[in-house]
Amino acid sequence: MVRAVLLGPPGSGKGTQAARVCKARGLLHLSTGDLLRAAVKDQTALGLKAKGFMDRGELVPDELVFALLRERLRSPASGAGFLLDGFPRNVSQAGTLDAELGARGIARVVHLKLDDEEIVRRLLGRGRPDDTEPVIRNRLKVYRAETSPLIAFYDRRGLLVTIEASGSVDEVAQRLDAALFGRQGGL
Ligand code: AP5
Repeated sequence: MVRAVLLGPPGSGKGTQAARVCKARGLLHLSTGDLLRAAVKDQTALGLKAKGFMDRGELVPDELVFALLRERLRSPASGAGFLLDGFPRNVSQAGTLDAELGARGIARVVHLKLDDEEIVRRLLGRGRPDDTEPVIRNRLKVYRAETSPLIAFYDRRGLLVTIEASGSVDEVAQRLDAALFGRQGGL
């Protein structure tokens, strides 16, 4: 059973690649960004609380994010395996995830590596509401301060594989598939 995390800066291709590998391999794609955007669109109480943080490119408070994720992680559909996209985003969320999964734990973390110039170029070309240059720069700052410590956190546990996220979508997809299901037998 696959229990994996996709980690990387905004615009590194987490959503694109997660959707693709999950479709190909029958995994549950759990994107906290997508769950939060759906809550904002539906104007739920949680979505209304989250919106301002998202508009500014800040992290939404941990308890709101985990409220969206918890049931999905527990649902029978996750029995075949799941790929988390955009979660955990800080060390506290990683601890919450460990507590939730217990002994099953996360088995692999794939880190998508991409330089800032390419990130800004990709995101300005997309045009989501949080894809303006000042908000992209803030998301990058938040990534460095809050999320990038998870690279060393998971590396120390021997779970981390870093792959280059530049190149075509197909090229990155091949690297990701190898990182998740490589010759060593994958997960
Ligand atoms: P989230 O939705 O997770 O956004 P993000 O991490 O900033 O990532 P993006 O969706 O911008 O990029 P991506 O890496 O998924 O790349 P994508 O495939 O889209 O989070 C949004 C907000 O929600 C956060 O700022 C925060 O407020 C909140 N949030 C979410 N999770 C949270 C959490 N756990 N805790 C607290 N707050 C949370 O690709 C980007 C673009 O590049 C696309 O246009 C795509 O077509 C293009 N592209 C992809 N691959 C390639 C390629 N190989 N070559 C050329 N173009 C490419």
